Amino acid sequence: MCGIVGYIGNKKASPILINGLLRLEYRGYDSAGIATIENDEIKVMKNKGRVNNLYELDGINDLVGTIGIAHTRWATHGKPSKENSHPHMDNSNSFAVVHNGIIENYNELKNMLIEKGYKFLSATDTEVIPNLIHYYFEQDKTDDDKKILRAVKSTCKDLKGSYAIEILSIYNKDKMIVVRKDSPLVIGKGNGENYLSSDIPAILSYTKDFYLLDDNEIVELSRDEVKFYNQDLKEIQKPIKSIEWGALSAEKDGYEDFMLKEIYEQPKAIRETVGAKLDNGSIEIEGLNLTKEYLQSLNKIYIVACGTAMHAGLVAKTTIEKLCKISVEVDIASEFRYREPLVDEKTLCIYISQSGETADTIAALKLAKSKGAKTLAISNVIGSSITREADYSIYTHAGPEIAVASTKAYTSQVVLLNILGIYFAEKLERVEKEIINNLKQDILNLPSQIEEILKDTNQVKNFAKKVYKEKDMFFLGRGTDYAVSLEGSLKLKEISYIHSESYASGELKHGPIALIENDVTVIATMTNPDLVEKSISNVQEVVTRGAKVFAITSEDIKNDGLSQVIKIPKTNPLISPVLSVIPMQLFSYYISKEKGLDVDKPRNLAKSVTVE
Ligand code: F6R
Repeated sequence: MCGIVGYIGNKKASPILINGLLRLEYRGYDSAGIATIENDEIKVMKNKGRVNNLYELDGINDLVGTIGIAHTRWATHGKPSKENSHPHMDNSNSFAVVHNGIIENYNELKNMLIEKGYKFLSATDTEVIPNLIHYYFEQDKTDDDKKILRAVKSTCKDLKGSYAIEILSIYNKDKMIVVRKDSPLVIGKGNGENYLSSDIPAILSYTKDFYLLDDNEIVELSRDEVKFYNQDLKEIQKPIKSIEWGALSAEKDGYEDFMLKEIYEQPKAIRETVGAKLDNGSIEIEGLNLTKEYLQSLNKIYIVACGTAMHAGLVAKTTIEKLCKISVEVDIASEFRYREPLVDEKTLCIYISQSGETADTIAALKLAKSKGAKTLAISNVIGSSITREADYSIYTHAGPEIAVASTKAYTSQVVLLNILGIYFAEKLERVEKEIINNLKQDILNLPSQIEEILKDTNQVKNFAKKVYKEKDMFFLGRGTDYAVSLEGSLKLKEISYIHSESYASGELKHGPIALIENDVTVIATMTNPDLVEKSISNVQEVVTRGAKVFAITSEDIKNDGLSQVIKIPKTNPLISPVLSVIPMQLFSYYISKEKGLDVDKPRNLAKSVTVE
């Protein structure tokens, strides 16, 4: 949560910083601010609300500094307000800091600093950081060019929690210091200039060369140099990574919103996810080399993730259990990490995270690792934190996902997890080859089938127009249709603010049917021919009680008696969520638009949940 940007070069920093913040707004958008150095002074400008509100500030366009830091906030400590916005300064106005993360022991540190005479102007945890740096800077009686670095190092030793911090100081006006622990931060290398950001897309239009930081590394940036130090201030070397994403992938490219663009990008994203994996013979996945013996030794696979990523895991449970005959448990990361999960060297633990930065998922991975299980991360972001913790990492290659509500990340995760299931199955040889080969072919057909669905979206749009004023909706499904219904229901909540619940159709009679009354909207997904008869009976039960049903079925399924039906192309039920989720994504999108909401930045949400 929160996005940070930094620039040092020969250009005016403020437009670059604000531009970067606008691209990071999906990470938080309740206040924003920037700081630059001009005439021996750190100039801070901040405002409550969206990044664009910075333009309302007097003098914002007059900032001429060529070094600066910036922040867009998702409040944790202290309500959204100008005072609580970043950057924060120390009492002597010598250090300015922006911070993403949480300082868990800030109260203790604040009290210590208050005792030493420091005053605090905000309710944030962050404000302790510039003051601590100042405190250690003043304590240090040596005067050399590492003095600020030493103060930062001592400060970091005191901090408990997670942080990505950028620091400006009037004691060295041509350098910027950066440090991270459990919070994302990348450095973009330019020519005579360097950039910093919470993620790659925000600065992709300036450079394609990045340094990925590891925990506890301290970096000193000047215009021509990037110097890396370990926590003992010993200089270390780091490789540069070139990123293949085009700058346009972080732009709306003519679409009204990022979410719509990302919905339409799904065929391309899935083609990238599949790559050459299914081209010939047995599947090889770069970054993965699990042996038949190891897979045979497993008695359980855990899939652990949060939100949409967890929903992708629920789809994969069916595939892996069916093809590999290994029991799969899907768990929410924040639950897994605080239980005592039964995990040992006979458990393979798979962690899914689009961003690769979700705090609970990373902690859940570390827990399994400590218990001796092998860990496999599935992420969309190369070099993200989770991929650096896991024993194995594989990538969805879906391209940057900017909208807060996940769309292409979900479908590409479902596809990659299915490919992973096939990879295991080919080694285990517990099911007939034909089943596997058919599934491979069905996966290859998915991109063109999505294109087919996206050709005409009017039916979904019209239904959304009819029901957008409603307060509650219900999603029903069985098997993978239930798994995808959970995702459909989440999308609706997130971007249209309509309360919705998803139920396994068979559970209806065990309670939820009491909620069905005249004119209630039910989205029923029925794509599995083996389950359709039972599902139709459940749908009839709600129709009898007055529900308006919007059904999503495959073209091979009969839907007698239902008036609102959207047909998706026929595919294997193991991967049908990749198709059936498309009308659900569009449904939420059109409702949100109809209500005049901000689709890409729904209230209270941020894309990357880097705090617990
Ligand atoms: C919903 C959504 C979230 C994320 C969840 C995990 O649209 O995007 O539910 O799926 O916060 O995020 P990652 O996958 O980055 O770990």
